[in-house]
Amino acid sequence: MRRARARPISARRFVSREFAASQQKGPFRMTIPTDVETALNDQVNNELYSAYMYLGMATWFDSLALTGFSAWMQAQCVEELQHAQKLMQFLSDQDATITLKEIKAPPATFDDPLAALETALQAEQDNTEQINDIYELAVRQQDHATEVMMQWFIQEQVEEERSARTLIERVRLAGNDRGALLVLDAQLGERSAATG
Ligand SMILES: [Fe+2]
Ligand SMILES: [Fe+2]
Repeated sequence: MRRARARPISARRFVSREFAASQQKGPFRMTIPTDVETALNDQVNNELYSAYMYLGMATWFDSLALTGFSAWMQAQCVEELQHAQKLMQFLSDQDATITLKEIKAPPATFDDPLAALETALQAEQDNTEQINDIYELAVRQQDHATEVMMQWFIQEQVEEERSARTLIERVRLAGNDRGALLVLDAQLGERSAATG
């Protein structure tokens, strides 16, 4: 059987030209600059990659029986999915095109818990840079709605980086003490159960 070639999914492709024309809102249609629309679509993919990365880390920690760390990673995964959905809703609210693209595979294994957490922090720092770039683009284009939306994400990134850094510090404090690592794991499990 011939396999269909994977193509990006675009919501616009599934409607007839007549239907699309009937949906045009004339002078009332909100416009989003094309380059901002592209950047926001790329950011949807970045957020989905982050979700996928945390999901991979959750699986890896689970394989080590570090179930508290795994629960923390699961919670991060859910948050990243919510970030992607927030951006998609924002695009949809402005009649912009949403194009879902392929999500690259995240790393599957790590040398130790510290290495996994450092990978997560690096990914958060990269994400912060991408969000700052979109904010600057929106400012240049005088796209105030995107500016405001990106301010929310900029604040969120401060929190995201802080929680990853705190966890790294605590794992460093535990050092080679497996008992201390298990205590930390139990605390993370309790916190995830309380907030989840
Ligand atoms: Fe995010
Ligand atoms: Fe994040």
